[in-house]
Amino acid sequence: MNKSIQLDSLQLGVCYYPEQWSDSLWEDDFKRMKQMNLSHIRIGEFAWSVFEPQEGVYDFDLFDRVLDLAQQYELKVIMGTPTATPPAWLTHKYPEVLNVSIEGVTYQHGMRRHYNYSSPKYRELCANITRQMANHFKNHPAIIGWQIDNELNCEISEFYAEADHIAFREWVQHRYHTLEALNKAWGTVFWSQTYTDWEQVYLPRPTVSHSPNPHHVLDEKRFISDNTIAFARIQAEILREVAPHHWITTNGLFGHLDTHALTEEMLDFFSYDSYPQFSTISGNNEHKPLLDRKWSQNLSVVRNISNNFCIMEQQAGPGGWVNRMNMPAPRPGQLRLWTYQSVLHGADLVMYFRWRTATFGTEIYWHGLNDYHNQPNRRIAEATQVGEEFVSIGEKIAGTTYQANVAILKDYDNDWDGEYDIWHGPLTAKSINAWFKQLQYQHIPTDIIYLRHQTLEELQRYQLIIYPHAAIMSEQTAMLLTQYVEAGGTLIFGARTGYKDLNGQCRMAPMPGPVASLCGISVADFTSITGTIEAPGLLWKHNNKQIEQAAELFNDILHIQHDDVEVLATYTSCYYENAPALTKRSQGQGQVLYYGAAFNEAVVDELLSLLDISSPLVDWLELPEQVEVGIRQNEHADYVFLLNYSDQPASIHAKVPRTDILTGTTIDGATTIPAYGVMILQS
Ligand code: GAL
Repeated sequence: MNKSIQLDSLQLGVCYYPEQWSDSLWEDDFKRMKQMNLSHIRIGEFAWSVFEPQEGVYDFDLFDRVLDLAQQYELKVIMGTPTATPPAWLTHKYPEVLNVSIEGVTYQHGMRRHYNYSSPKYRELCANITRQMANHFKNHPAIIGWQIDNELNCEISEFYAEADHIAFREWVQHRYHTLEALNKAWGTVFWSQTYTDWEQVYLPRPTVSHSPNPHHVLDEKRFISDNTIAFARIQAEILREVAPHHWITTNGLFGHLDTHALTEEMLDFFSYDSYPQFSTISGNNEHKPLLDRKWSQNLSVVRNISNNFCIMEQQAGPGGWVNRMNMPAPRPGQLRLWTYQSVLHGADLVMYFRWRTATFGTEIYWHGLNDYHNQPNRRIAEATQVGEEFVSIGEKIAGTTYQANVAILKDYDNDWDGEYDIWHGPLTAKSINAWFKQLQYQHIPTDIIYLRHQTLEELQRYQLIIYPHAAIMSEQTAMLLTQYVEAGGTLIFGARTGYKDLNGQCRMAPMPGPVASLCGISVADFTSITGTIEAPGLLWKHNNKQIEQAAELFNDILHIQHDDVEVLATYTSCYYENAPALTKRSQGQGQVLYYGAAFNEAVVDELLSLLDISSPLVDWLELPEQVEVGIRQNEHADYVFLLNYSDQPASIHAKVPRTDILTGTTIDGATTIPAYGVMILQS
């Protein structure tokens, strides 16, 4: 069971920056929040120079007044520790706290997140401000919880200050104990990279062709994650000690951080920052992109960390910094749609970012609910509607959880190794996109699961598991997956599975390594599909259907090792024309499929139909592609969310009558969901 936020009803809130506004505005702001049914605010996370204007001099007056006013308006407050924004006095006096690029350029004061996690001085100063704040605010009745830092590893997730090299060296010593073990794990005999003294070990530094040792690079990512967690732990321990009656969370999902471990080790639940428009401004060059709906992929990962979570920042308007991240304005209806997108995936507390658009600084185009002019606008009207709806449906939905029969598996080792390794990283990104998209279009709710220490029982919940290109795979994982298949599951692998061990070294064994015997195949030959080489087509055996240029990015040419392996498709061109590209083998109660390429949409569609995987709602609900469907459930009811991402109305057909709890109307037969509209059907 993962750690979830515990609320009796859905709650809405907003991020607020009192230090950026005249105090004459505060009361009107809080009054209007209250009128809009916003019950929570987050404050403080960037205000270090207000809290501690000079080293050792504290001034909590501004926030004391804000908290008293919040209490008066019955707003619950989440207090942020301000460690993402060290003040000028701090970095000026202690420049060793600054982060440094791999080239050795020091990131200076003037932005945020310009610090490193390793500097003992920075850790001391962060511990100090956290303790001062915790002691000062612990008894204020308005405060309910804390956010540690802000978006750990956002903006930048690599650190090369002197202190980082030292911390890495210690981490490596702790991990390997002996230089011999380190040299073995990193394969340093290759190109005479052998280390003979710990002092020779650094984080990767600039190298010829920017190509450091790949095993070293993988360990760098593991170190960054552990080091980020260690940095956060200092604050978590202080907050637990001083304010044990408050909960602790942090926000955002960023690179080189095992957010599952972070949450498990020190948080009460995880919080996420949801900006679906990021997906709209990227990924437009593919066929039928999911656009803002693709954000559900991230929300599915969040769900895997906390079934019920907080959205600490929900996009509230057009986004953009002065110089980057240029986003269009959300269309009328989209803010509400995106709020329910978060709720569908498990958010029980949704905080808009931010109350009012900043009139100065880097984020003058990152719009809050209110515009600069502070007059009523359509975004306020939309959030007001959501506030009313949360009051009416909130108790039903809070605490219910998302239901899925299909899971896509991921893991941090392959994520991190795949960032550097061009022979498997790009395959994973492409395949997960294709699977997620087609499952969305076919209305099949899907979980994204990070493989950590799951039990067989946890996997058995799924009828189908796709583990696309797990290059790194332990024997233990292979055993768990074998048991899953034997117990009745359907498991699908993609090209490049299982050829690396946990150090990222290639196994001297036929591919796909530890799952070769499960799949009953070996990879006889293989090629990257690159440059001018055209992806071969696939010929499906069950219907003689041919898909042109289907086998993309990489081709494993499969050799059948057992009679009971069925060839589902063969390659249609290249020197391996007619060779097996896709196989299936029944094992125990279940079946395992191996596909020798990266998955694309056409291949996924064919597989879903071949395996007869369909929407759990197929018997009673007809939906067009443009609608995302998902179910939040408890022991009493199912709540079927229908989210229309299109600017056109969606025609749906309910074969059994169901109540839309947002409007109280009964949906029976044909009806339409308006453009960007939402329905929640209870059954
Ligand atoms: C988040 C961050 C916020 C704000 C927002 C818009 O990443 O936590 O402080 O910067 O993005 O850029």
